[in-house]
Amino acid sequence: MTPIQPLPGFRDFLPEDWARQNYIFKKWWEVARRYGFVQWEGPPLEPTELYTKKSGPEIVGQLFNFTDKGEREVALRPELTPTLARVVASHDREFKKPLKWFSMPHCFRYEKQQRGRLREHFQFNADIIGEASLDADVELIALCVDLLREFGFSANDVVVRISDREFWIDFLRAQNVPEEKWQETLQIVDKSEREPREKTATKLGPLAQPVFKILDGEGSSEKLDRAFDALRVRGLADFVQIDLGIVRGLAYYTGIVFEAFDRGGKLRALAGGGRYDNLIHQLSDGAVSLPAIGFAMGDVVLAELINEIPAAKAKMELAVAPQREVDIYIVIAKEERRADALAQIQSLRDRGYRVDFPLAPAKVGKQFQAAEQLGARGAILFGDEWPEVKVKDLHTGEQRLVPSEIIRQTMEEIFRRFVP
Ligand code: HAM
Repeated sequence: MTPIQPLPGFRDFLPEDWARQNYIFKKWWEVARRYGFVQWEGPPLEPTELYTKKSGPEIVGQLFNFTDKGEREVALRPELTPTLARVVASHDREFKKPLKWFSMPHCFRYEKQQRGRLREHFQFNADIIGEASLDADVELIALCVDLLREFGFSANDVVVRISDREFWIDFLRAQNVPEEKWQETLQIVDKSEREPREKTATKLGPLAQPVFKILDGEGSSEKLDRAFDALRVRGLADFVQIDLGIVRGLAYYTGIVFEAFDRGGKLRALAGGGRYDNLIHQLSDGAVSLPAIGFAMGDVVLAELINEIPAAKAKMELAVAPQREVDIYIVIAKEERRADALAQIQSLRDRGYRVDFPLAPAKVGKQFQAAEQLGARGAILFGDEWPEVKVKDLHTGEQRLVPSEIIRQTMEEIFRRFVP
Protein backbone atom coordinates (compact mmCIF):
# COMPACT_ATOMS: atom_id res chain seq x y z
CA MET A 1 0.00 0.00 0.00
CA THR A 2 1.42 3.42 -0.88
CA PRO A 3 1.37 5.91 1.99
CA ILE A 4 -1.00 8.85 1.60
CA GLN A 5 0.79 11.82 0.02
CA PRO A 6 0.13 15.52 0.54
CA LEU A 7 -2.15 17.10 -2.08
CA PRO A 8 -0.46 18.47 -5.23
CA GLY A 9 1.00 21.90 -4.56
CA PHE A 10 0.93 21.50 -0.75
CA ARG A 11 4.09 21.20 1.33
CA ASP A 12 5.16 19.21 4.35
CA PHE A 13 7.60 21.19 6.46
CA LEU A 14 10.05 18.91 8.27
CA PRO A 15 11.83 20.54 11.24
CA GLU A 16 14.78 21.68 9.08
CA ASP A 17 12.37 23.22 6.55
CA TRP A 18 10.34 24.92 9.23
CA ALA A 19 13.49 26.35 10.84
CA ARG A 20 14.23 28.05 7.48
CA GLN A 21 10.59 29.13 7.22
CA ASN A 22 10.83 30.69 10.65
CA TYR A 23 13.93 32.55 9.52
CA ILE A 24 11.82 34.11 6.73
CA PHE A 25 8.98 35.00 9.15
CA LYS A 26 11.43 36.52 11.62
CA LYS A 27 13.08 38.76 8.99
CA TRP A 28 9.68 39.85 7.65
CA TRP A 29 8.59 40.70 11.18
CA GLU A 30 11.78 42.57 12.10
CA VAL A 31 11.88 44.80 9.03
CA ALA A 32 8.15 45.60 9.25
CA ARG A 33 8.61 46.68 12.87
CA ARG A 34 11.59 48.85 11.84
CA TYR A 35 9.17 50.72 9.58
CA GLY A 36 6.59 51.13 12.33
CA PHE A 37 4.05 48.64 10.95
CA VAL A 38 1.89 46.66 13.41
CA GLN A 39 0.77 43.08 12.87
CA TRP A 40 -2.81 41.94 12.36
CA GLU A 41 -4.51 38.75 11.12
CA GLY A 42 -7.76 37.77 9.40
CA PRO A 43 -9.63 34.48 8.86
CA PRO A 44 -8.30 31.97 6.30
CA LEU A 45 -11.85 31.23 5.08
CA GLU A 46 -14.05 34.00 3.66
CA PRO A 47 -17.36 34.35 1.78
CA THR A 48 -16.57 33.66 -1.91
CA GLU A 49 -18.33 36.91 -2.76
CA LEU A 50 -15.46 38.89 -1.20
CA TYR A 51 -13.28 37.81 -4.13
CA THR A 52 -15.79 37.61 -6.98
CA LYS A 53 -16.70 41.26 -6.35
CA LYS A 54 -13.43 42.93 -7.22
CA SER A 55 -10.24 40.86 -7.45
CA GLY A 56 -10.46 40.12 -11.16
CA PRO A 57 -10.99 36.97 -13.22
CA GLU A 58 -7.48 35.54 -12.79
CA ILE A 59 -7.70 35.08 -9.05
CA VAL A 60 -11.36 34.08 -9.05
CA GLY A 61 -10.52 31.24 -11.44
CA GLN A 62 -7.95 30.07 -8.91
CA LEU A 63 -10.19 29.96 -5.86
CA PHE A 64 -10.28 26.95 -3.55
CA ASN A 65 -14.01 27.31 -2.97
CA PHE A 66 -16.86 25.10 -1.78
CA THR A 67 -20.30 25.16 -0.21
CA ASP A 68 -20.04 24.64 3.55
CA LYS A 69 -22.44 22.60 5.70
CA GLY A 70 -24.53 25.72 6.31
CA GLU A 71 -24.98 26.17 2.53
CA ARG A 72 -22.64 29.16 2.49
CA GLU A 73 -20.41 29.76 -0.54
CA VAL A 74 -16.92 30.03 0.96
CA ALA A 75 -13.33 30.22 -0.28
CA LEU A 76 -9.89 29.82 1.25
CA ARG A 77 -8.16 33.19 0.94
CA PRO A 78 -6.07 33.48 -2.23
CA GLU A 79 -4.71 36.82 -0.98
CA LEU A 80 -5.25 39.13 1.97
CA THR A 81 -6.16 42.46 0.39
CA PRO A 82 -9.97 41.96 0.14
CA THR A 83 -10.01 40.81 3.79
CA LEU A 84 -8.03 43.90 4.78
CA ALA A 85 -10.48 46.14 2.89
CA ARG A 86 -13.40 44.41 4.61
CA VAL A 87 -11.85 44.71 8.09
CA VAL A 88 -10.81 48.34 7.65
CA ALA A 89 -14.27 49.31 6.39
CA SER A 90 -16.01 47.73 9.37
CA HIS A 91 -13.60 49.16 11.99
CA ASP A 92 -13.09 52.50 10.27
CA ARG A 93 -13.92 54.67 13.29
CA GLU A 94 -11.73 52.78 15.75
CA PHE A 95 -8.36 53.82 14.33
CA LYS A 96 -6.50 57.01 13.54
CA LYS A 97 -5.29 57.13 9.94
CA PRO A 98 -3.01 56.32 8.32
CA LEU A 99 -2.93 52.68 9.35
CA LYS A 100 0.35 50.85 8.78
CA TRP A 101 -0.51 47.18 9.09
CA PHE A 102 1.37 44.01 8.22
CA SER A 103 0.42 40.35 8.24
CA MET A 104 1.87 36.97 7.25
CA PRO A 105 -1.12 34.97 5.94
CA HIS A 106 -1.18 31.44 4.57
CA CYS A 107 -2.84 31.78 1.13
CA PHE A 108 -4.40 29.22 -1.21
CA ARG A 109 -4.74 29.33 -4.98
CA TYR A 110 -5.95 26.47 -7.12
CA GLU A 111 -3.40 26.96 -9.86
CA LYS A 112 -1.21 24.69 -11.89
CA GLN A 113 1.79 23.70 -9.83
CA GLN A 114 5.04 24.94 -11.39
CA ARG A 115 8.36 26.40 -10.34
CA GLY A 116 7.63 29.21 -7.88
CA ARG A 117 3.88 28.57 -7.90
CA LEU A 118 2.16 26.21 -5.48
CA ARG A 119 -1.39 25.77 -4.23
CA GLU A 120 -0.50 27.18 -0.84
CA HIS A 121 2.05 29.82 0.07
CA PHE A 122 2.80 32.26 2.84
CA GLN A 123 2.86 35.95 2.11
CA PHE A 124 4.19 38.98 3.88
CA ASN A 125 1.66 41.80 3.39
CA ALA A 126 2.21 45.45 4.28
CA ASP A 127 -0.39 48.12 3.61
CA ILE A 128 -0.84 51.80 4.38
CA ILE A 129 -4.50 52.82 4.61
CA GLY A 130 -5.77 56.39 4.63
CA GLU A 131 -2.83 58.17 3.00
CA ALA A 132 -3.05 59.35 -0.59
CA SER A 133 0.36 61.06 -0.87
CA LEU A 134 3.16 59.64 -2.98
CA ASP A 135 5.27 59.41 0.19
CA ALA A 136 3.20 56.39 1.21
CA ASP A 137 3.95 54.67 -2.11
CA VAL A 138 7.65 55.43 -1.68
CA GLU A 139 7.64 54.19 1.93
CA LEU A 140 6.23 50.82 0.81
CA ILE A 141 8.62 50.42 -2.12
CA ALA A 142 11.46 51.20 0.30
CA LEU A 143 10.13 48.58 2.71
CA CYS A 144 10.04 46.04 -0.12
CA VAL A 145 13.68 46.83 -1.02
CA ASP A 146 14.79 46.72 2.61
CA LEU A 147 13.16 43.32 3.10
CA LEU A 148 15.16 42.01 0.16
CA ARG A 149 18.36 43.62 1.46
CA GLU A 150 17.76 42.08 4.88
CA PHE A 151 17.82 38.60 3.30
CA GLY A 152 21.31 39.38 1.94
CA PHE A 153 20.43 40.32 -1.65
CA SER A 154 22.34 43.11 -3.41
CA ALA A 155 21.23 45.35 -6.26
CA ASN A 156 22.93 42.82 -8.58
CA ASP A 157 20.56 40.12 -7.35
CA VAL A 158 17.16 41.80 -7.26
CA VAL A 159 15.23 44.71 -8.74
CA VAL A 160 11.90 46.35 -7.94
CA ARG A 161 10.22 47.48 -11.16
CA ILE A 162 7.79 50.34 -10.66
CA SER A 163 5.02 51.47 -12.94
CA ASP A 164 1.73 53.38 -12.90
CA ARG A 165 -1.74 52.12 -13.78
CA GLU A 166 -2.88 55.71 -14.23
CA PHE A 167 -0.44 56.05 -17.10
CA TRP A 168 -2.07 53.02 -18.73
CA ILE A 169 -5.61 54.25 -18.11
CA ASP A 170 -4.71 57.59 -19.73
CA PHE A 171 -3.26 55.65 -22.64
CA LEU A 172 -6.39 53.49 -23.05
CA ARG A 173 -8.57 56.57 -22.94
CA ALA A 174 -6.44 58.33 -25.54
CA GLN A 175 -6.74 55.24 -27.75
CA ASN A 176 -10.55 55.29 -27.33
CA VAL A 177 -10.63 51.83 -25.77
CA PRO A 178 -14.08 51.42 -24.12
CA GLU A 179 -13.91 51.16 -20.33
CA GLU A 180 -15.30 47.62 -20.23
CA LYS A 181 -12.24 46.49 -22.24
CA TRP A 182 -9.61 48.10 -19.97
CA GLN A 183 -9.20 45.21 -17.58
CA GLU A 184 -8.86 42.67 -20.35
CA THR A 185 -6.31 44.80 -22.19
CA LEU A 186 -4.26 45.34 -19.03
CA GLN A 187 -4.26 41.56 -18.44
CA ILE A 188 -2.81 41.06 -21.92
CA VAL A 189 -0.07 43.62 -21.21
CA ASP A 190 0.59 41.95 -17.84
CA LYS A 191 1.11 38.56 -19.50
CA SER A 192 3.07 39.93 -22.49
CA GLU A 193 6.48 39.41 -20.90
CA ARG A 194 5.87 35.68 -20.57
CA GLU A 195 4.56 35.26 -24.15
CA PRO A 196 5.93 35.56 -27.69
CA ARG A 197 5.30 39.02 -29.16
CA GLU A 198 3.24 37.64 -32.06
CA LYS A 199 0.77 36.08 -29.64
CA THR A 200 0.40 39.35 -27.71
CA ALA A 201 0.09 41.25 -31.01
CA THR A 202 -2.80 39.04 -32.12
CA LYS A 203 -4.60 39.59 -28.84
CA LEU A 204 -4.05 43.37 -28.89
CA GLY A 205 -5.00 43.93 -32.54
CA PRO A 206 -4.63 47.61 -33.57
CA LEU A 207 -3.36 48.47 -30.06
CA ALA A 208 -0.28 46.29 -30.55
CA GLN A 209 2.03 48.90 -32.07
CA PRO A 210 1.42 51.70 -29.55
CA VAL A 211 1.61 49.20 -26.65
CA PHE A 212 4.90 47.75 -27.90
CA LYS A 213 6.34 51.25 -28.18
CA ILE A 214 5.63 51.77 -24.47
CA LEU A 215 7.01 48.35 -23.53
CA ASP A 216 10.16 49.19 -25.50
CA GLY A 217 10.79 52.27 -23.39
CA GLU A 218 8.81 55.07 -24.98
CA GLY A 219 6.56 56.88 -22.56
CA SER A 220 7.30 58.58 -19.29
CA SER A 221 5.53 59.48 -16.10
CA GLU A 222 6.33 62.49 -13.96
CA LYS A 223 4.87 60.71 -10.92
CA LEU A 224 7.23 57.78 -11.38
CA ASP A 225 10.20 60.13 -11.78
CA ARG A 226 9.31 61.76 -8.46
CA ALA A 227 8.99 58.37 -6.75
CA PHE A 228 12.35 57.33 -8.16
CA ASP A 229 14.01 60.51 -6.91
CA ALA A 230 12.57 59.95 -3.43
CA LEU A 231 14.05 56.44 -3.44
CA ARG A 232 17.38 57.86 -4.61
CA VAL A 233 17.40 60.19 -1.59
CA ARG A 234 17.09 57.08 0.60
CA GLY A 235 20.06 55.50 -1.18
CA LEU A 236 17.90 52.77 -2.72
CA ALA A 237 17.93 53.81 -6.40
CA ASP A 238 20.18 50.90 -7.43
CA PHE A 239 17.42 48.50 -6.46
CA VAL A 240 14.66 50.23 -8.40
CA GLN A 241 13.82 50.63 -12.06
CA ILE A 242 10.97 52.45 -13.76
CA ASP A 243 9.31 49.95 -16.08
CA LEU A 244 5.91 50.65 -17.60
CA GLY A 245 5.63 46.98 -18.61
CA ILE A 246 4.41 46.21 -15.07
CA VAL A 247 0.61 46.51 -14.84
CA ARG A 248 -0.24 43.69 -12.36
CA GLY A 249 -2.88 41.02 -12.84
CA LEU A 250 -5.26 42.05 -10.06
CA ALA A 251 -8.14 44.29 -11.06
CA TYR A 252 -8.30 46.64 -8.07
CA TYR A 253 -5.11 48.67 -8.63
CA THR A 254 -5.56 52.34 -9.45
CA GLY A 255 -2.14 54.05 -9.33
CA ILE A 256 1.50 53.11 -8.76
CA VAL A 257 2.14 49.38 -9.10
CA PHE A 258 5.39 47.48 -8.58
CA GLU A 259 6.89 44.02 -8.66
CA ALA A 260 10.17 42.61 -7.38
CA PHE A 261 12.19 40.15 -9.47
CA ASP A 262 15.54 38.39 -9.48
CA ARG A 263 17.93 40.22 -11.81
CA GLY A 264 18.59 37.03 -13.71
CA GLY A 265 14.92 36.99 -14.69
CA LYS A 266 14.75 33.23 -14.13
CA LEU A 267 12.12 33.20 -11.41
CA ARG A 268 8.55 34.39 -11.01
CA ALA A 269 7.88 37.62 -9.11
CA LEU A 270 9.14 37.75 -5.53
CA ALA A 271 6.65 40.44 -4.54
CA GLY A 272 3.99 42.66 -6.02
CA GLY A 273 1.65 45.42 -5.03
CA GLY A 274 0.33 48.88 -5.68
CA ARG A 275 -2.23 51.54 -4.92
CA TYR A 276 -5.90 50.53 -4.68
CA ASP A 277 -7.79 53.70 -3.79
CA ASN A 278 -11.29 52.40 -4.70
CA LEU A 279 -11.37 48.89 -3.22
CA ILE A 280 -12.51 49.80 0.30
CA HIS A 281 -15.23 52.01 -1.17
CA GLN A 282 -16.40 49.27 -3.54
CA LEU A 283 -16.37 46.45 -1.00
CA SER A 284 -18.24 48.53 1.58
CA ASP A 285 -20.86 49.58 -1.02
CA GLY A 286 -19.75 53.16 -0.66
CA ALA A 287 -19.98 53.30 3.15
CA VAL A 288 -16.26 53.98 3.66
CA SER A 289 -13.78 55.59 1.28
CA LEU A 290 -10.08 55.41 2.03
CA PRO A 291 -7.02 55.55 -0.20
CA ALA A 292 -4.78 52.51 0.21
CA ILE A 293 -1.53 51.02 -1.00
CA GLY A 294 0.23 47.77 -0.20
CA PHE A 295 2.20 44.82 -1.43
CA ALA A 296 2.83 41.17 -0.72
CA MET A 297 6.00 39.10 -0.85
CA GLY A 298 5.67 35.32 -1.23
CA ASP A 299 7.81 32.75 0.59
CA VAL A 300 8.15 30.28 -2.31
CA VAL A 301 10.13 32.34 -4.82
CA LEU A 302 11.98 34.04 -1.99
CA ALA A 303 13.26 30.71 -0.65
CA GLU A 304 14.30 29.67 -4.17
CA LEU A 305 16.34 32.83 -4.62
CA ILE A 306 17.91 32.58 -1.14
CA ASN A 307 19.14 29.12 -2.12
CA GLU A 308 20.62 30.46 -5.37
CA ILE A 309 22.50 33.46 -4.01
CA PRO A 310 25.46 32.26 -1.90
CA ALA A 311 25.60 35.35 0.39
CA ALA A 312 21.88 35.03 1.17
CA LYS A 313 22.11 31.30 1.72
CA ALA A 314 25.11 31.62 4.05
CA LYS A 315 23.26 34.27 6.05
CA MET A 316 20.26 31.98 6.42
CA GLU A 317 22.28 28.91 7.43
CA LEU A 318 24.18 30.93 10.02
CA ALA A 319 20.92 32.15 11.54
CA VAL A 320 19.17 28.80 11.36
CA ALA A 321 21.89 26.63 12.95
CA PRO A 322 21.41 27.85 16.55
CA GLN A 323 17.66 27.27 16.26
CA ARG A 324 18.30 23.56 16.10
CA GLU A 325 20.72 23.42 19.01
CA VAL A 326 20.17 22.74 22.68
CA ASP A 327 22.38 24.31 25.33
CA ILE A 328 22.80 21.45 27.74
CA TYR A 329 22.43 17.69 27.47
CA ILE A 330 21.84 15.75 30.68
CA VAL A 331 23.54 12.36 30.68
CA ILE A 332 21.91 9.87 33.04
CA ALA A 333 24.62 7.29 33.68
CA LYS A 334 22.79 5.63 36.57
CA GLU A 335 18.99 5.24 36.43
CA GLU A 336 18.83 5.75 40.25
CA ARG A 337 19.83 9.35 39.57
CA ARG A 338 17.00 10.07 37.08
CA ALA A 339 14.85 11.87 39.68
CA ASP A 340 17.77 14.10 40.74
CA ALA A 341 18.52 14.78 37.10
CA LEU A 342 14.90 15.73 36.37
CA ALA A 343 14.84 18.18 39.28
CA GLN A 344 17.95 19.81 37.83
CA ILE A 345 16.53 19.81 34.27
CA GLN A 346 13.45 21.64 35.52
CA SER A 347 15.54 24.23 37.31
CA LEU A 348 17.80 24.83 34.28
CA ARG A 349 14.80 25.14 31.95
CA ASP A 350 13.22 27.61 34.38
CA ARG A 351 16.37 29.69 33.94
CA GLY A 352 15.82 29.72 30.17
CA TYR A 353 18.34 27.08 29.11
CA ARG A 354 17.41 24.69 26.32
CA VAL A 355 17.89 21.29 27.91
CA ASP A 356 17.46 17.77 26.57
CA PHE A 357 17.96 14.32 28.08
CA PRO A 358 17.34 10.62 27.27
CA LEU A 359 13.68 9.69 27.72
CA ALA A 360 14.62 6.01 28.16
CA PRO A 361 17.72 4.33 29.67
CA ALA A 362 20.65 4.39 27.22
CA LYS A 363 24.40 3.70 27.20
CA VAL A 364 26.54 6.67 28.27
CA GLY A 365 28.37 6.67 24.89
CA LYS A 366 25.04 6.89 23.04
CA GLN A 367 23.96 9.77 25.24
CA PHE A 368 27.13 11.75 24.48
CA GLN A 369 26.53 11.05 20.79
CA ALA A 370 23.03 12.48 21.14
CA ALA A 371 24.50 15.53 22.91
CA GLU A 372 26.84 16.09 19.98
CA GLN A 373 24.10 15.66 17.39
CA LEU A 374 21.97 18.23 19.19
CA GLY A 375 24.89 20.68 19.20
CA ALA A 376 24.86 20.90 23.01
CA ARG A 377 27.53 23.13 24.45
CA GLY A 378 27.65 21.44 27.81
CA ALA A 379 26.78 18.08 29.33
CA ILE A 380 26.05 17.17 32.93
CA LEU A 381 26.53 13.58 33.93
CA PHE A 382 24.51 12.13 36.82
CA GLY A 383 26.16 8.88 37.98
CA ASP A 384 28.32 7.23 40.63
CA GLU A 385 29.84 10.54 41.70
CA TRP A 386 26.51 11.76 43.20
CA PRO A 387 26.04 14.08 45.14
CA GLU A 388 28.65 15.45 42.82
CA VAL A 389 28.05 15.61 39.05
CA LYS A 390 30.45 15.73 36.13
CA VAL A 391 30.11 18.91 34.11
CA LYS A 392 31.67 18.80 30.67
CA ASP A 393 32.32 21.69 28.31
CA LEU A 394 31.61 19.95 25.00
CA HIS A 395 33.52 22.47 22.92
CA THR A 396 36.83 22.32 24.83
CA GLY A 397 36.40 18.81 26.23
CA GLU A 398 37.28 20.17 29.66
CA GLN A 399 35.44 18.49 32.54
CA ARG A 400 35.22 18.77 36.30
CA LEU A 401 33.36 17.36 39.26
CA VAL A 402 31.12 19.83 41.04
CA PRO A 403 28.72 19.50 43.97
CA SER A 404 25.14 19.30 42.65
CA GLU A 405 24.14 22.49 44.50
CA ILE A 406 26.36 24.61 42.25
CA ILE A 407 25.46 23.09 38.87
CA ARG A 408 23.69 26.21 37.75
CA GLN A 409 26.58 28.46 38.71
CA THR A 410 29.01 26.20 36.85
CA MET A 411 26.85 26.14 33.73
CA GLU A 412 26.57 29.90 33.82
CA GLU A 413 30.38 30.15 33.98
CA ILE A 414 30.71 27.87 30.97
CA PHE A 415 28.13 29.77 29.00
CA ARG A 416 29.65 33.13 29.74
CA ARG A 417 32.65 32.01 27.73
CA PHE A 418 30.47 31.53 24.66
CA VAL A 419 28.10 34.41 25.04
CA PRO A 420 30.06 37.63 25.54
P1 HAM B 1 0.14 38.83 -5.96
O1 HAM B 1 1.09 39.42 -6.96
O2 HAM B 1 -0.98 38.04 -6.45
O3 HAM B 1 -0.36 40.05 -5.08
O4 HAM B 1 0.97 37.94 -4.95
C1 HAM B 1 2.08 38.47 -4.22
C2 HAM B 1 3.22 37.48 -4.21
O5 HAM B 1 2.78 36.25 -3.66
C3 HAM B 1 3.76 37.09 -5.58
O6 HAM B 1 4.72 38.03 -6.03
C4 HAM B 1 4.38 35.74 -5.31
O7 HAM B 1 5.68 35.86 -4.75
C5 HAM B 1 3.47 35.16 -4.25
N1 HAM B 1 2.51 34.22 -4.85
C6 HAM B 1 1.34 34.47 -5.43
N2 HAM B 1 0.74 33.35 -5.86
C7 HAM B 1 1.56 32.33 -5.52
C8 HAM B 1 1.52 30.91 -5.67
N3 HAM B 1 0.50 30.29 -6.24
N4 HAM B 1 2.56 30.19 -5.19
C9 HAM B 1 3.60 30.79 -4.59
N5 HAM B 1 3.70 32.12 -4.41
C10 HAM B 1 2.70 32.88 -4.87
C11 HAM B 1 -1.30 39.95 -4.07
O8 HAM B 1 -1.60 38.91 -3.55
C12 HAM B 1 -1.81 41.27 -3.58
N6 HAM B 1 -2.93 41.01 -2.67
C13 HAM B 1 -0.70 42.05 -2.93
C14 HAM B 1 -1.15 43.33 -2.31
C15 HAM B 1 -1.19 43.64 -0.99
N7 HAM B 1 -1.58 44.40 -2.97
C16 HAM B 1 -1.91 45.34 -2.10
N8 HAM B 1 -1.67 44.88 -0.87
